[in-house]
Amino acid sequence: MRRKLAAGNWKMNGLTAQLAEAEALVQAHPAPGVDMLLCPPATLLAPMVERAKGTPLAVGGQDCHKAGSGAHTGDISAPMLADSGASHVILGHSERRADHGERNEDVRAKANAALSAGLTCVICCGESEAERDASNTLDIIGGQLSGSVPDGVTGHNLVVAYEPIWAIGTGRTPTLNQIGEVHDFIRARLERRFGEGIGRSVRLLYGGSVKPDNAEEIFNVSNVDGALVGGASLKASDFSAIITALEGARNQG
Ligand code: 13P
Repeated sequence: MRRKLAAGNWKMNGLTAQLAEAEALVQAHPAPGVDMLLCPPATLLAPMVERAKGTPLAVGGQDCHKAGSGAHTGDISAPMLADSGASHVILGHSERRADHGERNEDVRAKANAALSAGLTCVICCGESEAERDASNTLDIIGGQLSGSVPDGVTGHNLVVAYEPIWAIGTGRTPTLNQIGEVHDFIRARLERRFGEGIGRSVRLLYGGSVKPDNAEEIFNVSNVDGALVGGASLKASDFSAIITALEGARNQG
């Protein structure tokens, strides 16, 4: 059975004072029935890891370079993330794809670097509004999956997040049927490529305007194993409510 995962992506938000929210979160969930992950900006990785020691909170990066080291000013490598105590890294987020021109092959190379460093990859996929309107959603997702997800992954080192671009930070979400359709499709693609055992063990997260008031219904959709939460993960009280909803979710995929 897949253990559910509540993941928070702080994006480019958070100064040192924001670490109090991570502390409040672990105080509210000292023994959660789901996995908890926060991905702060790189400047907060080490201090968050320090505060998360001995707690169930895992800490992750938001991107890594495909090389282990070298002349790449401003970039961070996968071994550096692991060295800071991070266990996960988000890769291929639509904001990285849009702001930094990351293509599927770039995401795949980064994922290979992350796997080599012992990190779990949270690989993101999702369609634009124009792609959905043109009924191209599943084609886009299928292409992103086959291009971005490297060979040799397992349910331990891969998580896939479905994040429709038009739902990120907008307060809009797909219908529950639309979420279920994409998650079932991703599950089938993973099973076809990696075999049933591995394909069934990979956790699939929904991301895009997940809030305390819509989390429960989303978490009861088939093949939704948790969420990748942006804005609502910045406040411990909101993220905590989402975690509680996930703990109570019926769906086991
Ligand atoms: P919001 O939850 O703010 O819509 O962001 C979702 C997201 O992009 C998480 O990676």
